[in-house]
Amino acid sequence: MNARPQPAMIPFIDLAAQRRRLGPAVDAAVSRVLAHCQFILGPEVRAFEEELSAFCGAKHAVTCASGTDALVLALRAFGVGPGDAVICPSFTFCATAEVAVLVGATPVFVDVDPVTFNIDVKGIAGAIEAAKQAGLTPKAIIPVDLFGLPADHPHVAAVADAENLFVLDDAAQGFGAMHHNRRLGTFGHATATSFFPAKPLGCYGDGGAVITDDANLADMMRSIRVHGQGSDKYDNVRIGLASRLDTIQAAVLSEKLKIFPDEIEARNAVARRYTRGLGDVAIVPAVPEGLTSVWAQYTIRLAPGRRDALAAALRVQGIPTAIYYPIPLHKQGAYRTYPVSRSGLANSERLADEVISLPMHAYLEEETQARIIDAVGTALR
Ligand SMILES: Cc1ncc(COP(=O)(O)O)c(C=O)c1O
Repeated sequence: MNARPQPAMIPFIDLAAQRRRLGPAVDAAVSRVLAHCQFILGPEVRAFEEELSAFCGAKHAVTCASGTDALVLALRAFGVGPGDAVICPSFTFCATAEVAVLVGATPVFVDVDPVTFNIDVKGIAGAIEAAKQAGLTPKAIIPVDLFGLPADHPHVAAVADAENLFVLDDAAQGFGAMHHNRRLGTFGHATATSFFPAKPLGCYGDGGAVITDDANLADMMRSIRVHGQGSDKYDNVRIGLASRLDTIQAAVLSEKLKIFPDEIEARNAVARRYTRGLGDVAIVPAVPEGLTSVWAQYTIRLAPGRRDALAAALRVQGIPTAIYYPIPLHKQGAYRTYPVSRSGLANSERLADEVISLPMHAYLEEETQARIIDAVGTALR
């Protein structure tokens, strides 16, 4: 029998290509840490925090062990806890809502805009009402810059100011993106990001950071990340965590940050090619005027029921796809008992049935991408 050879799988995210570009610089940076052996909060951590805050034009960056911990640190530092409501979108990664529960508060879900996939500002009033009706105090809101695109920060800020809410931007996917020439990191009271390897700015393990202009919040988070330390590590003034970014990861990230602007450009070139090539067969992502995305994902929408056939047709041609997210959080077993905005979550439910993401990274060569565009077009036409 003649078995037809399967084409080699294209990587969905090609970490090895970046590794080839940065190999010697990263190896040298890691070797410096191996030589001085200050593996926890070594000099590379402080240096990277300064580079990170300068990169987004903010005053302080506090690194920690993951993007999830970054959100927890900020909520804890702001005093969010039992009896408080944390408003967040339902169409996001679970960590956005999980952190509310981790600090003892209650997530309250809001719908997203069907075009940007980001929090629908019009739904926030309904979430505040639902929170109050459940006997909760609305305390914080977590907009998410989903798939790399900044949320509607000015309108979120206007609602939050009126309601006296703490705004914590979840920029785990959008870090590096711009909103009218301002980089994410300076919207809201604090911005959290993740350095999970697949993120636009990722390290070689877990890592995260909170960026803020508020010195008191930054001091509080530096204390909480080391067991609530006071004047020294055996002076414990509050309950905290063990959540530091490893020195080795900070050394890796310093090298990666140097090429990050160039990689953002490259990701945008890839996104433009997809949009040109696929605009007539699918709903391609829209980037509102004045915003730039870092394209954590390139996500198209298809009529319900069509994406499984597309994924299967691409898979046999060695082209991987992914679904972010197949179930909105308010429908997940762990979250379905929490309150939802009075205005409902219809868009989150619809998007969960319609989205599919294509390979996206800064090193996707034109030829490979042409193959993907061709295969998607053939499958959908
Ligand atoms: C939107 C969002 N928030 C939070 C996180 C949590 O980040 P981490 O995996 O570093 O804890 C992620 C990443 O997976 C994410 O995509």
